Amino acid sequence: MLRTKIAGIGMYVPDEVVTNADLIKYMDTSDAWIRERTGITERRFADRTKETTTTMGVEAAKQAIENAGTTPNDIDFVIFATLSPDYYFPGCGVLVQRTMKMKEIGALDIRNQCSGFVYAISVGDQFIKTGMYKNILVIGSEKHSFGLDFSSRGRNISVIFGDGAGAVVLQPTENENQGILSTHLHSDGDSAEILAMYNPGTHANHWVPQKVADFNESEIGDMFMSHAMIDKGENFPYMDGQAVFKKAVIKIPEVIMESLEANNLKPSDLKMLIPHQANLRISQYIQHHLRLRDDQVYNNIDRYGNTTAASIPIALYEAWKEGKINRGDLVCLASFGSGFTWASALLKW
Ligand code: ACO
Repeated sequence: MLRTKIAGIGMYVPDEVVTNADLIKYMDTSDAWIRERTGITERRFADRTKETTTTMGVEAAKQAIENAGTTPNDIDFVIFATLSPDYYFPGCGVLVQRTMKMKEIGALDIRNQCSGFVYAISVGDQFIKTGMYKNILVIGSEKHSFGLDFSSRGRNISVIFGDGAGAVVLQPTENENQGILSTHLHSDGDSAEILAMYNPGTHANHWVPQKVADFNESEIGDMFMSHAMIDKGENFPYMDGQAVFKKAVIKIPEVIMESLEANNLKPSDLKMLIPHQANLRISQYIQHHLRLRDDQVYNNIDRYGNTTAASIPIALYEAWKEGKINRGDLVCLASFGSGFTWASALLKW
C-alpha cells in the first residue's frame, strides 16, 4: 500500500533572542509570571525588515529539500501554513515558488493557525496517496512579532508568541514500517471568536453582539480598516486564554487517542508525542492524562514560545536531530488552536 513518508525536514529560527526580561521594557509583566503560566523563557523575533514569514519558510524549506535528497526543481506542490502571511493575499506559497525558482507548480496556503501544519500534512498525504504528486513541500512559518500589541493591554497574548519556521518534504513509500498511518482533523466554529484576529476583515460586526471593529459606516468602502480601529487596538489578536486552555486539554488527548485507536495502538506504544507548543502546562497535562513518560513528549516552548504553524515541525526537527526519534519509531503530532481546530497525525518515522 502506498504511504506518505517525511523524506526530509528543516527548521529556521531568527537570530534575535528575546528574553522575558526584554519584554518588561515594553509592558507590565514579569519573568516569573511568564515562566509559571507558560513555561516560556525566551523566543526569537525576526529581523523586522529583512525577514518575512515567507523568507523564514524558505530557509527551513532549503534544509528539508536537501535532507530529502531533492532539489527545488523536483517539488511538484507547495503547501504553506501560516496565520501571519506576508500579504493578506496572495498567499505565501506563491512567494516560495518564486523565491525558490520552482516550476509553475500548484501552491496552496492553509489557514488553520496552530493546527495548520497538521492540516497541511493531511492534505499532502491525500495527494501523495492518490499518486497525484511525488514531492510535496509543506511549510509552517510565522512572523508573530510584527503583529502583536507590545503594550500592557496586549500582554496576555504578546508574551506567548515567537517567530520561526519548519518544513518537510513528503514523498511516497511502499515501506510498511514507515510513513503516515492516519490523520484526524476537527473543528468547532462556535468558538471562532474566542481566539481571533478580527481586523482587518469583512465581518462588519456581523458575528458577535459586541462591537469588535470601529469602522466608518459610510455608503461605500472604509469598512476594512479604519483609524478608529487602530487607535483602539482592534487590529491585534484577541484571546480568552482560559477558555482556550480548558478546551485544549480535552481535545488534544482526545485526538491523540483517536489516532492511536484507529490504528489499534495505545499511548505506551508511542516513541514520541510532538504536541503543538502552546503552553508547557497544556503539554504537561496531556502527558499526565495519557500516562506518558518524560522521554515520550518533546517540548521546546521554553526556547521559542508559541510559533503556531511552525511549532510542530520545529519540535519534530529538533527531536530528530537530537536522535530522539529514529527510523520506524511511532510518532504522534497533535495540535489545537484558533477556530477552534484540532488535529493529529500518527506516523512511523
Ligand atoms: N504578565 C503579567 N500578568 C498578566 C499577563 C502577563 N503577560 N497576562 C495576563 N496577566 C494577568 C491578567 O491581567 C490577570 O490579572 P487579574 O487576575 O488581576 O485580572 C491574570 O494575569 C490572569 O490572567 P489570565 O488571562 O486569566 O491568565 P491565565 O492563567 O489564563 O494564563 C495564558 C494566560 C498563559 C494565555 C493561558 O490562558 C494559556 O496558555 N491559554 C492557552 C493559550 C493557547 O493555547 N492558545 C492556543 C494557541 S494560539 C493560536 O491558535 C493562534
